Amino acid sequence: MLFTLVPRLLMVCVAAVIATLTAAIAAAESGGTPSQVNVLPKYRQECATCHIAYPPGMLPAASWQRILGNLQHHFGTDASLDVDSVKQISTWLAANSAGDAAAHAAPPEDRITRSHWFRQEHAEVPADVWKRPMIKSASNCAACHTRAEQGNFNEHFIRIPQ
Ligand code: HEC
Ligand code: HEC
Repeated sequence: MLFTLVPRLLMVCVAAVIATLTAAIAAAESGGTPSQVNVLPKYRQECATCHIAYPPGMLPAASWQRILGNLQHHFGTDASLDVDSVKQISTWLAANSAGDAAAHAAPPEDRITRSHWFRQEHAEVPADVWKRPMIKSASNCAACHTRAEQGNFNEHFIRIPQ
């Protein structure tokens, strides 16, 4: 009895260790970042038609509030919404916005692309790269971050178009 039980117990242990390791590797590879939150369907529906659904944690609440308060004049375009949608989206953005005030002071124009951390993270991208036809604008995250749509900006999934 003992002779059959010991190897079996060992097998169970080994299987458990493998499962844990596999899960850890999967998590590391998917690049789980704090920017990944469950996206409000309304936000995806209304704010991800012209560009990606920018992660709420990339701007402070004050910036989101200003953006939502002026959708008629939205970075040179009209992105107006009905009052109910605006309310729903702004509540969700406020709840998921950048918490750390020091690291996330409201950037100029309330642009993610003009925040201090963004400039630091992209310091090695040469100025002319941003102008490439496939990229056009730094705001076009998905041009280089192949999983930006999923809120994943991990460096493993960056491909800079030529
Ligand atoms: C009709 C198209 C359209 C819709 C809808 C739209 N946007 Fe935009 N958004 C733009 C354009 C155009 C820009 C400027 C992109 C650029 O400079 O290349 C922009 C830029 C932004 C930026 C700044 C990106 C940066 O440079 O850091 C944020 C933040 C943003 N939008 C949030 C939102 C939110 C929130 C919503 C939903 C309420 C929304 N957008 C809906 C067109 C749109
Ligand atoms: C021209 C291509 C390009 C565009 C467009 C771009 N990025 Fe990046 N991004 C990079 C590169 C290159 C890095 C540096 C990766 C490294 O650390 O080696 C980076 C790094 C990052 C990082 C840090 C990732 C990490 O694992 O440390 C974040 C977060 C990020 N980008 C967010 C954004 C967001 C948000 C946008 C759009 C508003 C954007 N990026 C647009 C190329 C781009």
